[in-house]
Amino acid sequence: MPNKIAFNDNYPNISQSDEWYMRALKVQKPVTQTLAKGPGQFSKGVSPKYLVKGKGSHVWDVDGNEYIDFNAAIGPLSLGYAYPAVDNAIKAQLEDGISFSLMHPFEVELAELIQQVIPNAEAVKIAKTGADVCSAAVRVARAFTGRNKIFCCGYHGWHDWYIGITSRYTGHDLHL
Ligand SMILES: Cc1ncc(COP(=O)(O)O)c(C=O)c1O
Repeated sequence: MPNKIAFNDNYPNISQSDEWYMRALKVQKPVTQTLAKGPGQFSKGVSPKYLVKGKGSHVWDVDGNEYIDFNAAIGPLSLGYAYPAVDNAIKAQLEDGISFSLMHPFEVELAELIQQVIPNAEAVKIAKTGADVCSAAVRVARAFTGRNKIFCCGYHGWHDWYIGITSRYTGHDLHL
């Protein structure tokens, strides 16, 4: 008997996802700065567009569908969503404030911890976004080598050194 291959037509209902997307299209251009999260990366008409909850390796979309998140929040979520130790530490810190006008000792502790895990990291720089760290790495490399050209592939954020070579280049610094 020959093998039979058929597409799964038991797709989830994503009507709420689509409604949020229609609202977003009117006020956000593009709807997300992080391309990897955008609807253009996933199967149109089938994949959810908005997630509202995560627990462990599972996530739930705005329509209530449950999925395994193989993307792991595009990489960083190695402990899973709502990991108790992480969440409890965040909740405890909320009581004391989370953004200050001066440095916080946690920055030193984090840098020391990272250096223990990565012994050849001569120094640790803390930043908030992927685009920031990529731009910092490019700037350090240019300063150290005295060279200008950067070889890159994939997505690296919206800063001029990178976005200037993509189809979203309008407005980038032409002198780079
Ligand atoms: C390889 C890479 N570099 C940079 C970025 C930009 O990160 P962010 O959106 O945090 O600025 C991303 C985001 O997906 C990325 O995957």
